[in-house]
Amino acid sequence: IREDPTSASTYIANYIIDRIKSFNPTNKHPFVLGLPTGSSPVGIYKVLVERYKAGEISFENVVTFNMDEYIGIPREHPESYHTFMYKHFFSHVNVHPSNTHILNGNAPNLEAECVQYEAAIKAAGGIDLFLGGIGPDGHIAFNEPGSSLASRTRVKTLAYDTIIANSRFFDNDISKVPKMALTVGVQTVLEAREVVIIITGAHKSLALKKCIEEGVNHMWTLSSLQLHPHPMIVVDEDATLEL
Ligand code: GLP
Repeated sequence: IREDPTSASTYIANYIIDRIKSFNPTNKHPFVLGLPTGSSPVGIYKVLVERYKAGEISFENVVTFNMDEYIGIPREHPESYHTFMYKHFFSHVNVHPSNTHILNGNAPNLEAECVQYEAAIKAAGGIDLFLGGIGPDGHIAFNEPGSSLASRTRVKTLAYDTIIANSRFFDNDISKVPKMALTVGVQTVLEAREVVIIITGAHKSLALKKCIEEGVNHMWTLSSLQLHPHPMIVVDEDATLEL
């Protein structure tokens, strides 16, 4: 538990930097990092970029896989997760573009895109650290309430609550919010060797309680993290209101 979102973000950024640094000297293959979008990780990317610019960390040997992407908006759309990642992170650090992976929500065959994505994760050696946020309904990536806890990368229809929550990025107009997305599955996340989640704000306090104080439940998909051998949830004070 950290006091506020800034200190939670700094804690996670420092943790990721330590993991990358301690990984590189002893291993021949790159560090594989799973990455989220949304407002929660923005502060983490900010610190990572600052530390890169200060010469304290290199992303040269880092391979990334993003969690999810909307279906039906162009890659160049200001609210696509592709645009988000370049705006907040990729454009500012030395990660090689060919080492970054984001699901293509405009692929001609979406099912094939999902199968290829899982294969690419496997070929990279699996994900070392999956960073994530959650929606107020406890979803991880776009694994909405009711998602199978054994799910893998697939097409997902967004829950109405998520469409409302994300409308703040689309002029508060729910008709402009994509209704479908590609997302890694719950099982894809659980297979990462380590999972780190940021949760900030009172509006996510019920989700935090459901996910860590109650049982594993497909209606609160983050609760699946209880089954993971190496999880960490970093929260601010406001998120603990229901604990
Ligand atoms: C979207 C993303 C999730 C993210 C969530 C929370 O639904 N698919 O991966 O965790 O937004 O976003 P925010 O951090 O803006 O609350």
